[in-house]
Amino acid sequence: MPITATDVRDQVISWRRHLHRHPELSFHETNTSRFVAETLGGFGGLEISRPSATSVMARLKGGRPGRTLAMRADIDALPIHEKNAHDFVSSSPGVMHACGHDGHTAMLLGAAKVLAARRAELAGEIRFIFQHAEEIPPGGAEELVRAGVMEGVDLVIGAHLWSPLQVGKVGVKAGALMAAPDAFTITILGSGGHAALPQQTVDSIAVAAQVVTNLQHVVARNVDPLASAVLSVTRIAGGGDAYNVIPGRVELGGTVRTFDETLRAEMPRLIERIVSGVTSAHGARFEMTYERGYRPVINDAGAADLLRRAVVAALGSDALVEATPTMGGEDFSAYQQKAPGAFFFVGARCEESGIVNPHHHECFDVDERALDYGTRIFVAAAEAWR
Ligand code: NI
Repeated sequence: MPITATDVRDQVISWRRHLHRHPELSFHETNTSRFVAETLGGFGGLEISRPSATSVMARLKGGRPGRTLAMRADIDALPIHEKNAHDFVSSSPGVMHACGHDGHTAMLLGAAKVLAARRAELAGEIRFIFQHAEEIPPGGAEELVRAGVMEGVDLVIGAHLWSPLQVGKVGVKAGALMAAPDAFTITILGSGGHAALPQQTVDSIAVAAQVVTNLQHVVARNVDPLASAVLSVTRIAGGGDAYNVIPGRVELGGTVRTFDETLRAEMPRLIERIVSGVTSAHGARFEMTYERGYRPVINDAGAADLLRRAVVAALGSDALVEATPTMGGEDFSAYQQKAPGAFFFVGARCEESGIVNPHHHECFDVDERALDYGTRIFVAAAEAWR
């Protein structure tokens, strides 16, 4: 009897719990990548390599010639102190798998185990990419693409356990799924002085407040209402402890999220126009930096179709839903520059069990039934690919 995802279900959960207990930050996934490589090594039949210091790639050559399907999992954790009370909480203070990447890693290990045992039946190649550093720009995906992990790949898929989606449901969508997460800093340069004598100053706090308010006009008044964009100011820093000193400088930081590349390219100019006008109106100056983050995740229609077939084959048609796009970012988009690909959401929420916290929350958790579903979809995708 060939093994199935059911045969590895408990093991996938135990892998996830092991990884959850031992989280590592982006670019520091030393023990995680070693665990992945050693676990893969036990399956047999895989060509395992280390495309970067803390990532792992495994190639599975089928019994017959054919095309190459890549599957990606991210393996890094976040600088968050876990507040969960289950018996596999993080053993590293201040570091936590609060996004579900422990589950992604475990699911892909499970799929690799099942598919390695069925190698003779497979055509072409299945390539498993365990990627470091999804959480910190520039992200590990770019580095792995440069290292050649996508060479010869015809199609790429990747999953995210998804807390907004009920466990048992899987979201697939062609087209725009996740946004480009760009970042800006704006320094307002005024002139400091005594709080009782504002006429002698250019009050950077008052100007910064106007800038923050007016920046909301960028999306509200300059972007097509039918397009999608969000601008959030997430940091404001200025002044000291003194109540009677007007500071000469205030720093603002924030993020801009878009799907469309033309709009994305236009945003810095729209922002700068507002900042320039508001600061000059008040006699202040400014400095601005703008950093482009990951590209948007735009799913290929053919790849999304393969995923839909895999979901229906693995879990039945009731499980399949149209994914709701999100303004969150994902460096999975780096792989999509090299081959058609699709990213999908595996529902991990369970109201009855109280598993409702959002990603990056200190009590984030996933319904572990989702791990089995994700494993089964990866296996089914490899089968549908033949
Ligand atoms: Ni994530």
